[in-house]
Parts: sequence; structure tokens; C-alpha cells
Amino acid sequence: MRPDLPEQVRIVEVGPRDGLQNEPGVVPTEVKVAFIDRLSATGLQAVEVTSFVHPKWVPQLADAAEVMAAIGDHPGVAHPVLVPNEVGLDKALAAGATEVAVFAAASEAFSQANLNTDIAGSLAMFAPVVQRAREAGLDVRGYVSTVLGCPFQGDVPHDDVLRVTAALLEMGVYEVSLGDTIGVGTPGAMQDLLDRLVDEVGVASLAVHCHDTYGQGLANTLAAFEVGVTTADASAGGLGGCPFAPGATGNLATEDLVYALHGSGVATGVDLDALVDTSAWMARRLGRPSPSRVVTATLATRETADR
Ligand code: HMG
Ligand code: MG
Repeated sequence: MRPDLPEQVRIVEVGPRDGLQNEPGVVPTEVKVAFIDRLSATGLQAVEVTSFVHPKWVPQLADAAEVMAAIGDHPGVAHPVLVPNEVGLDKALAAGATEVAVFAAASEAFSQANLNTDIAGSLAMFAPVVQRAREAGLDVRGYVSTVLGCPFQGDVPHDDVLRVTAALLEMGVYEVSLGDTIGVGTPGAMQDLLDRLVDEVGVASLAVHCHDTYGQGLANTLAAFEVGVTTADASAGGLGGCPFAPGATGNLATEDLVYALHGSGVATGVDLDALVDTSAWMARRLGRPSPSRVVTATLATRETADR
């Protein structure tokens, strides 16, 4: 383990939600369920399953309740679901969710595009969700999007990220995942942002969620680990994007993150081979190869070994 990296980290797998919400077609429910079950057996501690959002806004995840009903039992693996409002929370509770995530933005224009309301409106929408979810015994996570840049506004002031992050933590979320929604950040920009946030809210309540649009997802995530963050989101095979963020491509591939961490002596608990198998299986179902360099290289190495 390098002295500037944590001994172990927690990875929140977001492929079934962030990945499949951005597919051009609707993935069949049974494929989603098999994807989640396979991911949940790789040693990941958390696999985000789906979203209880308006099906007109995200038709790709309209089968959220069916997916929840069909996934297997995976003791010790958290299965959070996205919930924007009380309608979504009611549906998530009825489906047996044990963890939900609310999702705010640090830029007004993205909040409007993603949630049809401004930041203040979104926080007012989330407050009863967080309160009721916690009263029902659920864990509640928070996201803040566009922390390193907004597709509409461009630069996003650190103070805006801090204000929304602090508001969510005050509401009672156990952690805020800082989303570089369109993947424009750099390691320096990530560390500058964290320098502003860590003293104010504490590093233990922060996670990072880096899209890989500019190929910076791994560097930005490691930059966050270097300053004490120990939780990162990633997406199996590098699937992902946000339908309401023009230009957003997939998340940092979980395989690329796990490869880098294991090679640096950082424990994740994840079986990398099983993860690569799962992403290769999913790529066949989606009809295109995974953009993950580690998936591609591992499959090529296996082919060579088979010859
Ligand atoms: P709205 O149209 O303003 O909703 O959408 P409304 O409150 O005015 O209600 C209109 C109708 O929708 C009503 O039905 C509601 O019951 C119904 P009617 O009375 O007309 O028959 N409705 C719902 N139905 C099902 N599920 C619901 C729900 N809520 C209301 N939850 C809303 C507002 C928030 C619902 C909408 O904007 C929405 O669903 N947005 C979700 C957008 C989304 O999922 N974005 C992608 C996820 S975020 C992301 O990817 C970023 C992240 O990865 C981090 C990063 O990368 O930065 C997390
Ligand atoms: Mg995302």
C-alpha cells in the first residue's frame, strides 16, 4: 500500500442504475436482474439497483419494482435505489428498498434539467423523503451533481457545491457522493474542491462519482483517495451517463478502478476476474464491447492464453 492511499476502500457499483439509465434501448428486466445478481456476488459492498423516478423521464428504468422483486438475496450487499420525491419513496418502500439515494445538483440549470425544479425546490422535495426514509429505518445517501462543471453553466463555484452538500448532510444523509456528471474534472480540480469541502463537512461523509468523458475518471478518483476519501462510485464495464447532461458518457469502469487499487496494494474485496466476466457478459447483451481498458485487455490476454 502506498502511504498516500487508504488501506482499503468501498466501491459503490452504479452500473445497473447509472449505466442502464443511459442505454438507447430498454434492457430486458431479466437481464438487469441477472446483471445485479452477478455483480452482487463479486465482493462489491454496494450495488445501486435502479431508480424510482418518473417513467416518462427515464423509461429505461420503468421496471424498477419488477427488478427489485426479482433480485436474489445477497447478505451484506447494500442495494440502494434513486428516489427524487415522496412518490418515488412510496414506490421504493413498497418494493422493499432498504437504502435510497436523493440526488441534488450544484448548478441551477442542471437541477432544472434533471429534476424540473431549482436547487431550493429540490432540497424542499428531498427533506420529507430523507426524514420519512430514516424513520422507516432506511439508510439514505445523497448525490450532488455537476461538482466540477455543468453542461449548461460551465464552471461551478466551490461554495455552491459546499452549500448543497452541507444541506443534504444536515437533512440526514449518511454520505454525499460528489458527481463529476460530465467528466470534465482533473485531479487538481478534484483536490481543490476537496480542500474546500473537507474542513467544513469532514472527509468521512464524502464519496466521489467520476464520469470518464475526458478519460480522467481514474486519476480524479485516486486524487480524492489521496486526500482521505475512502468511497468511490464506479460502473461495471464503464457503462453510464445521464440523459439530462448533454455530453456525459460512462462512469469510471469498476474494473479499471479495482485493477489500479489492487496493483497499489489497496483492498477492495472485489474479485476482478468475476467482475470482468460480468461486464463481458453484459457487453454481449448490449451488442457492443465494453469501453473499459481493463476489461478489453483482460479478455485479450485470456484469448491469447487459449490459443
Ligand atoms: P415532474 O414532471 O415535475 O413531476 O417531474 P411532478 O411532481 O409535477 O408530477 C407529475 C406527475 O408525475 C404526477 O402524476 C406524479 O404523480 C408523477 P399525475 O398526477 O400527473 O398522474 N410522479 C412520479 N411518477 C413515478 N415516480 C416518481 C414520480 N414523481 C412524480 N418518482 C421528477 C419531477 C423529479 C419526478 C422528474 O424530474 C424525474 O423523474 N427526474 C428524474 C431524472 C433522473 O432520473 N435523472 C437521472 C438520475 S441523476 C444522475 O444520473 C446523476 C448521478 O449519477 C450523479 C452524477 O453523475 O452527477 C446521480
Ligand atoms: Mg452519474
